[in-house]
Amino acid sequence: MANGLMSVSYIAAAILFILSLSGLSRQDTARRGNFFGALGMVVAILATVIGAQVTGYALLLPAIVVGGGVGWMLAVRVEMTQMPELVAVLHSFVGLAATLVGYASYLDPTAHFEGAEKTIHAVEIFLGVFIGAVTFTGSLIAFGKLRGSLSGKPLTLPARHWLNLAGIVGAVVLGARFLAAPETSGLPELLAMTAIALLLGVHLVMAIGGADMPVVVSMLNSYSGWAAAATGFMLSNDLLIVTGALVGSSGAILSYIMCRAMNRSFISVILGGFGTGGGTSSTMAAPQGEVQAISAEDTAQALLDAKEVVIVPGYGMAVAQAQGAISEITKRLRAKGVKVRFAIHPVAGRLPGHMNVLLAEAKVPYDIVLEMDEINADFPDTDAVLVVGANDIVNPSAQEDPGSPIAGMPVLEVWKAKTVVVFKRSMATGYAGVDNPLFFKENTRMLFGDAKKSVDSILAHIPT
Ligand code: TAP
Repeated sequence: MANGLMSVSYIAAAILFILSLSGLSRQDTARRGNFFGALGMVVAILATVIGAQVTGYALLLPAIVVGGGVGWMLAVRVEMTQMPELVAVLHSFVGLAATLVGYASYLDPTAHFEGAEKTIHAVEIFLGVFIGAVTFTGSLIAFGKLRGSLSGKPLTLPARHWLNLAGIVGAVVLGARFLAAPETSGLPELLAMTAIALLLGVHLVMAIGGADMPVVVSMLNSYSGWAAAATGFMLSNDLLIVTGALVGSSGAILSYIMCRAMNRSFISVILGGFGTGGGTSSTMAAPQGEVQAISAEDTAQALLDAKEVVIVPGYGMAVAQAQGAISEITKRLRAKGVKVRFAIHPVAGRLPGHMNVLLAEAKVPYDIVLEMDEINADFPDTDAVLVVGANDIVNPSAQEDPGSPIAGMPVLEVWKAKTVVVFKRSMATGYAGVDNPLFFKENTRMLFGDAKKSVDSILAHIPT
């Protein structure tokens, strides 16, 4: 492919990626955004594969077929609740790719750089391998934590900040020696730094507790972007640099938004130690008292008697796949003149925008789906709140208990409504592992059981 045509294709792909990001920022344009992203990726892959630099088709084509096949299978099979894990694994692939490309660039026998060019290339390699290795192991640990195979409790080693600092200083010293080494004799320094970066990735994410995982997911998203950009510099591929920078900066902005939503400073989350599982640092005793159960029939009656209803979806709604039945209840109640709205907490579920995606899939109208800040003041005027599989995001101890691991995190103030019905299967804690005094409040009723079954039973008592 001629260089001119290649440049045009790259520019077209970059524009499509920017259009994709802007489309994805709103629910009603998200599908179009997704399409632009996929189209941009097809253009980018085709332009790169047909480009003059690529010659090893015998290796490349089987790799594309196998990789594409695995990706296709994963996309078809993955449950919505497993999406965060999938995203974490995909981030780890980007990190691993950046690390391997770094080594390949360094050991490439055909590459000869002199003077400033050599230094710049070596810096690209060193930084690319460092970011890639941190992203690789950090994402694998995030995968384990999201999947539940690793504990959500933060690992707070004594002097952990000093350990991190020692790792970074060690990497800088190795970097200086690596830059000064002739030809490929800096390989031992590169290997030593990779080992440090791999450990740093593990340690940084292990130190972050359950409640702060949303920031970790978006932060690793950002790291994977910068790792891709570094790969772009190593390979002199402009499109990879642009795409990596887009992912890196949008991930950084998302991390900032997540931190604001959780009332945390970015630095304190990165340094870890928040979100201790089990609520062990809480100054309050575990909530006590009797919980009051309610039947599906009585819940249906409470909804029919209400004028204002707010539904708060959480991770359990995704697990139960109750969004379709919830949408149907909403339709029936609205047809009877009840005002129904949805309250979305920024970290509800396990992925940014998780609840919005599920509600859009179930065809809930966008205009009744409100953000936390838009609806929080309205709870005192609400007759009935349905908390469907949500827990941490409606936990009053975030406001009432300064020692709670989620202290200071803004929550939906559902307890201020006249009646709150909580749909869950047991008295178990949510992701952050914190007990929830909401369940014991006087105006709270517990509807125990799988959320989908509970909603179906309520539906049976609400005539069309
Ligand atoms: P959680 O606090 O995790 O609570 C979910 C609740 O759903 C659980 O208490 C569980 O109780 C219930 N549940 C599970 N399956 C159910 C089913 N089939 N039917 C009925 N209930 C079911 O969820 P949340 O309130 O959405 O809060 C999100 C949490 O995840 C926050 O701590 C947040 O920091 C964290 N997190 C968020 C993200 C993003 S980006 N959103 C990423 C990682 C972590 P039972 O077991 O008793 O049923």
